[in-house]
Amino acid sequence: MQVIRSIPQMLAVQYTPAAQVGFVPTMGYLHDGHLSLVDAARRDCDVVVVSIFVNPAQFGPSEDLQSYPRDMDRDLSLLQKHHVDYAFLPDAEDMYPEGYATWVEVSGLSDLLCGASRPNHFKGVCTVVLKLINIVHPHCMYMGEKDFQQYFILRKMAEDLNLNLRVLSCPIIREEDGLAKSSRNSYLDSQQRQQASCLYQALRNSRQMVKAGECDAAKIIAAAEAILISNNAKVDYIQIVNSTNLMPVDSIDENSRMLIAAWIGKPRLIDNMLLKA
Ligand code: PAJ
Repeated sequence: MQVIRSIPQMLAVQYTPAAQVGFVPTMGYLHDGHLSLVDAARRDCDVVVVSIFVNPAQFGPSEDLQSYPRDMDRDLSLLQKHHVDYAFLPDAEDMYPEGYATWVEVSGLSDLLCGASRPNHFKGVCTVVLKLINIVHPHCMYMGEKDFQQYFILRKMAEDLNLNLRVLSCPIIREEDGLAKSSRNSYLDSQQRQQASCLYQALRNSRQMVKAGECDAAKIIAAAEAILISNNAKVDYIQIVNSTNLMPVDSIDENSRMLIAAWIGKPRLIDNMLLKA
């Protein structure tokens, strides 16, 4: 595995002609969720590039940029074990030099769901991912379904900007109790860690209600909210949307997906599930 820290050096990499290049953008502190994307890229592509960059532009002023967990040595040894070809680790000063002024925004979709409580978050995500795509030149980019809105927005960006890139999604990897794996789970103390599986419990309960014949989105959301509240979670949002356009639905069908964001103490966690799978 080649470790590349400079943008010009990454730009200068010459892939073998006709090689399919798979790309996995990450912010590091890697876990099995990230590694499932790496494995999917390794399975499908000839060359695998993984970036690790804690992107300041996607954090709000009162968010956790400074405390975001980092362990570069461990990350690099995991990437090596998973047969990655290039690990790209740019510096913030090189990605956003003084005078940096260009931003990419997928309008509308970026204001919904997580965008409502994290203004500018998706602008930061789209900007950094487009920059990374322009530097890495991949054919396929692998995203986790855990961040479903992010995947949806980046797919739209690739389509709208004719990026000639396939944006692929991979299933959510979970802990044994159902909690979706996340770098931010490391913030949870042991009591919060126990409570944190309530997002998954609420999603599972919703799916069971649908299986039992319930179609009324409002009733399913109310039951999910009760589960979160009884576990001391503070709800940011619980919505059931159409997976093909992210618009809220009143009645459940094959495309209906529940998305949840909630605070367990200070950490804010997200999760989602198709309700009629
Ligand atoms: P990060 O949170 O590090 O996640 C990188 C990728 O891993 C994302 O596509 C995310 O959806 C996926 N992922 C995280 N947890 C997962 C899980 N439990 N199961 C499956 N996939 C999972 O998302 C970001 O970084 C950043 O916003 C980024 C796209 C890198 C731009 O800075």
